[in-house]
Amino acid sequence: MTKPYRIMFVCLGNICRSPMAELLLKDMVKRAGRENEFIIESSATSDENVFNGVGAPVYYHTRALLESKGISCAGKRAQVLEKRHGAQFDLFLCMDGANVRNATRILGAENAHKIKKLLSYAGESGDVADPWYTRDFERSYSDVKRGLEGLLASLQ
Ligand code: 4NP
Repeated sequence: MTKPYRIMFVCLGNICRSPMAELLLKDMVKRAGRENEFIIESSATSDENVFNGVGAPVYYHTRALLESKGISCAGKRAQVLEKRHGAQFDLFLCMDGANVRNATRILGAENAHKIKKLLSYAGESGDVADPWYTRDFERSYSDVKRGLEGLLASLQ
C-alpha cells in the first residue's frame, strides 16, 4: 500500500473555514471509499482560539451548517499551525492570501512549494471569504466544496 497523502487545511482561526474543509473532505473520501489514502487535519495561523493549550470547538454557525449536511464536528478542536507540521504534511491548503503569507512565515521558505490556496484546485484565483466577518456561511461552504472537488479529482 502506498503512503497516505497528508493534507493540512489552514485558515486564520481554525473554527470556521479550515474545519469545514477538513470535515467535508473526510466525509467525501469516506463516501468514495478512499479514507485510507489520506491523513487530513486543519489548523490556524493565529492563536486566538486556543486558551491555555485547549482549542475551541468549531464555531456554532459552522457546526450547524455542517450538521445540516450530516457531518459531525465532534472532537474537532482548534490548533495552531507550527513549524513541525512542515515535515508532517505533503500539502498545506490555505483559504486566502493572508493565510499563505502567514503559513509561509511559520513553515519557512523550504516548505513554500507545499503551500497553496484551496480554490486554485477549482481553477480559481480567489479566496474563500471568512464567514466570521461576512456571516455568509453557505457561500464559504460552497467555495470550500468546489475546491475540494477539484482537489480530489487531481488526486485520482
Ligand atoms: P476562520 O474564521 O479563519 O475561518 O476560522 C475566524 C474565526 C475566528 C477568528 C478569526 C477568523 N477570530 O479572530 O477569533
